[in-house]
Amino acid sequence: MTRDNPIRLNLNECPYPPPRPVIDRVREAASLVNRYDSADLSESLMNLLSGYVGVEPEYIRLLPGSESFMLYSALYFRKLGLHVVSPSPTFEPALIDFELAGVPVIRVPLSEGFLLNEELTLKFANKSSVLYVSNPNNPTGNLIINENFLKEALEKFKYVIVDEAYFEFSSVTFRDWINSHDNLMILRTLSKAFAIAGARLGYVLGQHQTLHEVLSKKREFDIPITSIAAGIGALESLKVIREYVNNIIRIREKTVGLLKRIHGVKVRNSVTNFILVGINGIQGNELYANLVKHGVVVKPLTHEKLREYVRVTVGTEEEMNYFIGAIKEISGSYSRTNNMMARVK
Ligand SMILES: Cc1ncc(COP(=O)(O)O)c(C=O)c1O
Repeated sequence: MTRDNPIRLNLNECPYPPPRPVIDRVREAASLVNRYDSADLSESLMNLLSGYVGVEPEYIRLLPGSESFMLYSALYFRKLGLHVVSPSPTFEPALIDFELAGVPVIRVPLSEGFLLNEELTLKFANKSSVLYVSNPNNPTGNLIINENFLKEALEKFKYVIVDEAYFEFSSVTFRDWINSHDNLMILRTLSKAFAIAGARLGYVLGQHQTLHEVLSKKREFDIPITSIAAGIGALESLKVIREYVNNIIRIREKTVGLLKRIHGVKVRNSVTNFILVGINGIQGNELYANLVKHGVVVKPLTHEKLREYVRVTVGTEEEMNYFIGAIKEISGSYSRTNNMMARVK
């Protein structure tokens, strides 16, 4: 079982093409790129986004990819002498961004079942610390904060950043809390559900004054006109995007169900567009290398709690059928080898 073109299941991208309006809008915007920005396009995008998110434009700041928020905010946090606290494993690039900008990070291990260790996390809470939580958490795929915890965290931490990169798949958001909590910021992206990862477009929700302060180091004109246009096209295509999301959720559930039936395979439930998959007796990096041989690229995980797994983005139905076939072959060949070894012993 091999393929000419590898299947890309490693970056949690949308497997479907950008909807037609994205391409049309980017084409139209190409004729404007002699300018740094277009006030008209930015206003259109903000209006569409405000309608989609359900908050006034003053609560939204656009970002050149949501990850850029870590670096920009870190420059401000460093000035204030703050440090970051985060459950771990999580979206590690975010934590590395903070550290790169000179902000120390305290990683609080997730407890059994990949749940947030609330007690330990709150022990690190004070007015010099910022909590970063990916909810749902990447790479574990589960929701890790609840209302009670968030309420206490908002009282005790200086700032709380909730990264809702996978909101469209989980349907769980703390968006409504930004009205009443001036130290809460919520990160979102158009890289996952909206099928425009290459446009690098994200946004943060929060109170105007908070965003103004925390993003005081943000550079002007950091989002290309063509990316703004791509965002407009994506938000004009909500019907298609909702179909994409529903499809991905359906394929995810089907894939999880089929994988659970394969002897020796372990898979975790997820409320995102990715799943953790492992094969008993094999380390994740070995499974990763085996899948590459089959023409499937997934994400190997180095965190000690996740060494038995790889993270697999939910692709198209055809891609996932191929992936399941590869997993069957790999697990079959390992159990044959183990049986032979047992007989030799
Ligand atoms: C939790 C989380 N936050 C942020 C990002 C980055 O998104 P963007 O493409 O908007 O920078 C990712 C991408 O994988 C992610 O998983």
